[in-house]
Amino acid sequence: MSEPVKVCVTGAAGQIAYSLLYSIAKGDVFGPNTPITLTLLDILPMEQVLGGVVMELMDCAFPLLKKVIPTCDEKVAFTDIDAAFLVGAMPRREGMERKDLLGANVKIFESQGKALDQYAKKTVKVVVVGNPANTNALICSKYAPSIPKENFSCLTRLDQNRAQAQIASRLGIANSDVSKVIIWGNHSSTQFPDVRHAVALVNGKKVPVPEAVKDDSYLKNEFLKTVQTRGAAVIKARKLSSAMSAAKATADHMRDWWFGTEGDNWVSMGVFSTGAYGVPEGVMYSFPVRIKNKQWTIVEGLEINDFAREKMDLTAKELIEEKTMADEVCKA
Ligand code: NAD
Ligand code: LMR
Repeated sequence: MSEPVKVCVTGAAGQIAYSLLYSIAKGDVFGPNTPITLTLLDILPMEQVLGGVVMELMDCAFPLLKKVIPTCDEKVAFTDIDAAFLVGAMPRREGMERKDLLGANVKIFESQGKALDQYAKKTVKVVVVGNPANTNALICSKYAPSIPKENFSCLTRLDQNRAQAQIASRLGIANSDVSKVIIWGNHSSTQFPDVRHAVALVNGKKVPVPEAVKDDSYLKNEFLKTVQTRGAAVIKARKLSSAMSAAKATADHMRDWWFGTEGDNWVSMGVFSTGAYGVPEGVMYSFPVRIKNKQWTIVEGLEINDFAREKMDLTAKELIEEKTMADEVCKA
């Protein structure tokens, strides 16, 4: 057994954390041989609920879970941590866009960025889940200047998983037989789910997804819209935002960051843009990445046609607008 990994989950009394904590404590993220110490951050009004979550974690008798520290203090939550799952934030309700949450949520990420800067390991890996995830991650990184920008990311893996599942269902194949789906841009309704480079395993043969689907209009319209608006559809049906699937995607994201991607496969992550594919610098944009030794690199050289360019620019424009709004909220 190795040394315990110190992990923090914020919003630990909430819906997503309820599924995520189970996955982490069971070993789905850091592996079956890695002991875990958990700090659970939430706000004071949720202290009692958090206590209940701690009781349940104890009652699971997980072999890997060495210690659980519930807290409402960012210093306690972030001191010496190796990984941070920043889930704690208000979810949207029916009829809202995710960016409508900026005013309520961005200050949380300013405060947590400052606390990570002061107390976390400089190698900490941070995934922001709380919406609007891209811009919250950007703000968090901005206020943690002593931690490399590459250590901050936001979740778009849920969108990737949704896109993969839609294609698998359309083709009548297993989810695991669809790979290399890309999510470009913002975790919002402007995101561009792109399957032009994706591969499907059909009757034992690897086929480009557009060739397997044989319906360009479906891929450019219905498929796109379904993935872009899936979060809203879940809210409409559940009266609550996605939680089980969000937790699964968050676990997938950190597991791949920790252990790397396999072969020539890639995954999508919201990461700091330094201008790849003509995306403006200084926004947190979802790109296809490969990961090795806990470092991600953007997959280069993929062909971008006019349709893709237009979609990629539109979602970048929204991220620039969100950045301006977030900076104003932080200044106020
Ligand atoms: P929830 O309301 O069930 O839980 C949120 C928890 O965060 C609550 O317990 C709340 O008290 C806590 N919290 C609020 N402020 C906090 C702070 N400053 N520090 C620590 N904890 C704090 O919501 P949920 O369903 O778990 O969703 C959480 C967030 O994740 C929402 O913003 C939601 O929109 C977002 N989300 C993102 C994705 C994605 O793919 N990126 C997917 C699903 C949900
Ligand atoms: C999702 O994609 O399900 C989440 O971001 C929740 C939401 O507000 O859509």
